[in-house]
Amino acid sequence: MGVRIVSVGAYVPERVLTNQDLEQMVDTSDQWIVERTGIRERRIAADHEATSDLAYHASVRALARAGLQPEDLDMVVVGTATPDMLFPATACLVQARLGIQGRPCFDVEAGCPGFVFTLEVARAMLSLNNGYRRILVVGADTLSRITDWTDRNTCVLFGDGAGAVVVERHDGDRGILATVLGGDGTLGDLLYLPAGGSRKPASPETVANREHYLRMEGREVFRHAVLRMQEASLAALEKAGLRPEEVDWLVPHQANWRIIDATAKRLNLPPEKVYVNIDRYGNTSAASIPLALDEMVERGLLREGQIVLLVAFGAGFTWGATVIRW
Ligand code: ACO
Repeated sequence: MGVRIVSVGAYVPERVLTNQDLEQMVDTSDQWIVERTGIRERRIAADHEATSDLAYHASVRALARAGLQPEDLDMVVVGTATPDMLFPATACLVQARLGIQGRPCFDVEAGCPGFVFTLEVARAMLSLNNGYRRILVVGADTLSRITDWTDRNTCVLFGDGAGAVVVERHDGDRGILATVLGGDGTLGDLLYLPAGGSRKPASPETVANREHYLRMEGREVFRHAVLRMQEASLAALEKAGLRPEEVDWLVPHQANWRIIDATAKRLNLPPEKVYVNIDRYGNTSAASIPLALDEMVERGLLREGQIVLLVAFGAGFTWGATVIRW
């Protein structure tokens, strides 16, 4: 018995923030941002929108595409690093809005690879054979709320969005073939959010020190991301018994075009097998992979039987790769 993605949906906020807009906010240029990252614009949540809103809209679209009702779901799991609040979990807020009280709902916090981790948790749950048949898996983040809009080193990189998939127990050779997850907590201080948790609760001092915004050593993150995304991709393919040349689509976390390019080159994959939409959305963290999958479905790029490799890296550090026969 395997596990298969039966539907995908996504949602991005309406407001577009372009590189030209950022030129008015910090000392940067469209040319620098495009050359160093590949990003041209990103979406920013409206004042009234939070992560659960983005997640809810993506979920409704995923359900509609498959002709499913919320009642058809047995569980809701959300991968996010920017929950609406510390608790209740964002998944609980989504569950309530879908009107399916009673079903288990919880979040997975694994930084940018949040979707890959959440998908693996759902796959494992469905494999337990304890009554779960269908799970809603969401990757959603509102990074704009933890971005320091006065810091040019980070503010040009991030955007908001959500993607959702419905996964199901499935008989047959399609579905998730292999997943490899990893992490290195000793490197956590290279990308972190200092305050707002139990270590440093919000105080006038944390606010004055701008400690509610993410901090990142970009160059170091870049170096580790390239290495780990390559390693995880190769390990997942090996676990699935496949060679890199058998991959039809690489769908990487969209953090930086140069990281994506380096990963593809290591796998010897030509650009036409690599899905890139970072130019329009920037780094949407846990949302980036399901957002890409949604666009690919919409454009008719994903065909039955194709081998799809998902790979991501992020805060923790955490990383993961999943091989799917679509
Ligand atoms: N505009 C203009 N100049 C800038 C900007 C900007 N927006 N940002 C930095 N610079 C300057 C720096 O100040 C530096 O100037 P200096 O040499 O005078 O000191 C120069 O550009 C080069 O800076 P680097 O940091 O070396 O630039 P780099 O080529 O490494 O690119 C970047 C920086 C884009 C952040 C890159 O390191 C990167 O993408 N890192 C990975 C980021 C990432 O993936 N993060 C997310 C992980 S996922 C998650 O969990 C959220």
